[in-house]
Amino acid sequence: MCGITGYIGEQNAADILVDGLKRLEYRGYDSCGIAVVDSKNALYLRRVSGRVAALETLVAKGPPKGGRTGVGHTRWATHGAPSEDNAHPHTDCSEQVVVVHNGIIENYLALKEKLLAQGHKFKSETDTEVIAHLIEEKLKHLHVQEKAVRSDMLEPVFFEAFRHAVGELKGSFALAVVWARCPGMIMAARMYSPLVIGLGKGEHFIASDVSAFLKHTKRVIFVNDGEMAAVRKDSMDFYTFQGKKTSHEPVTIQWDSTMAEKGGYRHFMLKEIHEQAEAVENTLRGRLLPLDGEVLGRELLMPVEFMRAVETVQFIACGTAYHAGMVGRGLFEHFGINAEADFASEFTDRAKLLDKNTLVVAISQSGETADTIFAVREARAGGAKVLAITNTVGSTLTREADYVLHTHCGPEIGVASTKAFLGQLAAIYLVAGHFAAAKGLLDKTDARAYAEELLRIPRHIEEILAREAEIEKIAAAFASSEHFLFISRRLNFPIALEGALKIKEISYVHAEGYAAGEMKHGPIAIIYKGMPLLAVAPSSSSLDLMAGNVEEAKARGADVVAIVDEDSKKTVKASRYIVLPRTGELFSPLLTVIPLQLFAYYVALAKKCDIDKPRNLAKSVTVR
Ligand code: M6R
Repeated sequence: MCGITGYIGEQNAADILVDGLKRLEYRGYDSCGIAVVDSKNALYLRRVSGRVAALETLVAKGPPKGGRTGVGHTRWATHGAPSEDNAHPHTDCSEQVVVVHNGIIENYLALKEKLLAQGHKFKSETDTEVIAHLIEEKLKHLHVQEKAVRSDMLEPVFFEAFRHAVGELKGSFALAVVWARCPGMIMAARMYSPLVIGLGKGEHFIASDVSAFLKHTKRVIFVNDGEMAAVRKDSMDFYTFQGKKTSHEPVTIQWDSTMAEKGGYRHFMLKEIHEQAEAVENTLRGRLLPLDGEVLGRELLMPVEFMRAVETVQFIACGTAYHAGMVGRGLFEHFGINAEADFASEFTDRAKLLDKNTLVVAISQSGETADTIFAVREARAGGAKVLAITNTVGSTLTREADYVLHTHCGPEIGVASTKAFLGQLAAIYLVAGHFAAAKGLLDKTDARAYAEELLRIPRHIEEILAREAEIEKIAAAFASSEHFLFISRRLNFPIALEGALKIKEISYVHAEGYAAGEMKHGPIAIIYKGMPLLAVAPSSSSLDLMAGNVEEAKARGADVVAIVDEDSKKTVKASRYIVLPRTGELFSPLLTVIPLQLFAYYVALAKKCDIDKPRNLAKSVTVR
């Protein structure tokens, strides 16, 4: 969580850093700051408690126009409350060493104690500040506190001080550090937190995520775990923490910078909801036909014999991605393949029960979710192969997995995940279909029908989006409700959970998703007269049961909005309906979630909530 930026070149660093922070604000937004150094070694530090917009106003008042080197940060608090003092960048006692950090320094208390004993004075409650003092201490050991260091020795001295300090850190970090005496070089390092360097002409960019600098360059280098970089305006070198040189080939990113802008929509979330037909198309493109295991196997470099040998599929993920995994479990089970889905954060003992015939499918939009990455490590240690489904090229997850399937949804900026979920679902349907076909569980005709139905989904999504105004009206009717229930059955039960999660995270109201059949075992007691209940009830083999559960809720006073198709509408009696195009029972989760996303969006809009940056949250959760 937290976003870091860095710039070294010929342009005004402050403007570039602030602009980059705006694009990274989805990663955390409780405080932020920048520090720039000019050619005369003067350091300008600007920090605010609050959003990047406030920092921008402060920076506009001047004066750091001369600075061509600098670092920036937008924070999601872990150690120390959101405040100006705790905002990054952090400095050492001499205010010469400037650090921005994403991650958690696990041994910061031990380091802090030692540094305090050495006379260092701390100004914040953060774990990060120890890094600045540690580098200062290393510089002292290299005898550079006096001004007399030869100018050609400044870079090697900074490099060594940084390297030794990094060697003492435990935990996760992406770091960018400037030493005011040496403005020609930024030092950066990565351990378990994302770090990418953008290559310009006579300038370089550092960031947690490419979207920070995409408008300047698409040529990037992803720094590896255990690697550090010495970044100058016209060169850069990479090393291990032990000081051994490493090398990299730049990669060209396909996303363009406008993809990370709102494009006329009021919020990123709404824009991303509207990009879902395209997200599904992009995820499926060129991978679906023929549905026989071979096409997918070739892309993933996964032998079809392995697909045949897989006995259990284990999904691990968090939040919305976990709901995609739950749909995946139902889908694989439908084909007769054993499947499980677990929260990555709860996936501990089960990892010991895996074997080489288990395929672990780790799902993550960002590819940086710490819980998911740690679970993947446990799974691999347990002997399982891991398939990563992610939207983020070059992310940590892609390096940890045996096989990688990118969802190609484009950048998702809104903290509430929408199009990434659709991409994840499409990828899961793709994988399930290929596995079932490879295992002989889908014959050629059924495989063809399955693929064709999937290919129709984007058009159906567009039909639903065309009815946005109706959904907005229904949402407006419930805008002042403080409690919401979402119920469904089987493959749509995870969609009920997802509907409730969307409302919770962007409207801050209480919402619960329940398996419809479970209601009578306890939760039905909470229903009161007028309580909104969203029943996800498309045509299915369990429709009669679902209709019965809706009746039970109505009898206790629930005000029911039913998500139906023209056929199921005849069976489910509700006070309001959202009618979807009819699709096969197996495919309905790809459609039923869309009205729930729009419903959550419009409830939050009516409540005037900060939809793209909900309180207490961050887009990328890189702590456990
Ligand atoms: O990047 P990931 O897909 O791994 O993120 C997992 C969850 O943190 C994420 O889906 C979260 O639940 C979203 N804010 C939900 O909208």
